[in-house]
Amino acid sequence: MLKISALAVLAVLPAFVQAQSAVYGQCGGIGWTGATTCVSGSTCTVLNAYYSQCLPGSAASSSTAAPSSTTASTSTAHSSTAASTSTAAAPSSTAIAGNPFEGYEIFLSPYYAAEVTAAAAAITDSTMASKALEVAQIPTFTWLDAVAKVPNLGTYLAEAQSLQASSGQKYLVQIVIYDLPDRDCAALASNGEFSIADNGLANYENYIDQIVDLIAQYPNVRVVAVIEPDSLANLVTNLSVPKCANAETTYKEAVTYAIQQLNTVGVYMYLDAGHAGWLGWPANLSPAAQLFDSLYTAAGSPSFVRGLATDVANYNALVASTPDPITAGNPNYDELLYIQALAPLLTSLPAHFIVDQGRSGKQDIRNAWGDWCNVLGAGFGTRPTTDTGSSLIDSIVWVKPGGECDGTSNTSSPRYDAHCGLPDATPNAPEAGTWFQAYFQTLIADANPAL
Ligand SMILES: *[C@@H]1O[C@H](CO)[C@@H](O)[C@H](O)[C@H]1NC(C)=O
Ligand SMILES: *[C@@H]1O[C@H](CO)[C@@H](O)[C@H](O)[C@H]1NC(C)=O
Repeated sequence: MLKISALAVLAVLPAFVQAQSAVYGQCGGIGWTGATTCVSGSTCTVLNAYYSQCLPGSAASSSTAAPSSTTASTSTAHSSTAASTSTAAAPSSTAIAGNPFEGYEIFLSPYYAAEVTAAAAAITDSTMASKALEVAQIPTFTWLDAVAKVPNLGTYLAEAQSLQASSGQKYLVQIVIYDLPDRDCAALASNGEFSIADNGLANYENYIDQIVDLIAQYPNVRVVAVIEPDSLANLVTNLSVPKCANAETTYKEAVTYAIQQLNTVGVYMYLDAGHAGWLGWPANLSPAAQLFDSLYTAAGSPSFVRGLATDVANYNALVASTPDPITAGNPNYDELLYIQALAPLLTSLPAHFIVDQGRSGKQDIRNAWGDWCNVLGAGFGTRPTTDTGSSLIDSIVWVKPGGECDGTSNTSSPRYDAHCGLPDATPNAPEAGTWFQAYFQTLIADANPAL
């Protein structure tokens, strides 16, 4: 009904109305000057003040614009969904002992494929454009960084299930759980939609419940998740930041809830463990291992927690041929050395790892190891593979979808973080999470191995 009347209105609009955004295209947000309507079959959805996006479907999740007031009604809706789908086979209650990536095809995120296809179409150099299209075939993780994006997961699981049925191959869907209240407590660029002071923990639990309800409907599709990038690492090193100190208890409760609930539907989980230049410093290794172990044990040692994810959205080499000069003083100057140093310190959390190499193709490009924002000269890195060269590492993965911006370089933006204005950060960067075409093109040009 709604769709039909919307189309009828469109039909009588004057011709000067600008083009509609494609599915997954941007359709609004502070500073946005492009189209503010979406092609049929998708709805412009406010993800935050800076970014509205055309998400598939007809306003199914419009209630998410005001999460705190809708918690009660959505949780009721979801418990009835769960009841009606309980005929589906229950997921296995114990995890397999081996590498969960082995024997599975990785589902390609239609979200990233759409971004990359649109980006390729905007490249005039035909060689560069065809290299860009190759990137659409490389699996990345889907970031569920706003509750409004959760319904996409249902679509992907359904698609993965039908691919599985038609191909006879088993499929695996990769997601990032990333919506903690007071998210990104030590930086400014990726602040989340929930605040601890405004019902944040309950909103987060509702976000997790929605994800769990969807996954429960597709027990035959395997799901692998990275849990909350940066959050636990911030609790290891950044408790001097008031926002982190204030978030400590809530982060622990929320992450515990997430891993316990995702465990009930058989999601293989890797907790985020920062990177070599963060928790890999010798003084941070033991405190980090203790935090991971104690959180895991207190959560009841959920059997689907497989280990840790490192280098998410960062630029470190898995194996550096020579130490980057910025790593001076840290014997763990690459991800493999970090993992080998951390693994023996874990006493209860399983010591299995995945390592993001999506933007690690070029090394020795930073002025300081802590520089993380749209680093100039970065290139796409080693392609995802289970051929990792280390029995500790289940898979090399691409967690960060290369081309999505780390943070704005606009000094007037409330979400401006000084890291995004450094000399080794790419200038003219849009808001975090939005598409950064110029950056995508340098990732292609500097890819190693080359595209
Ligand atoms: C957070 O901790 C890291 C690692 O010790 C440090 O480099 C960074 O400056 C800290 N951030 C803030 C905002 O204090
Ligand atoms: C920078 O941010 C300010 C404040 O949000 C905004 O008014 C301005 O248009 C932005 N400038 C650019 C170039 O996006």
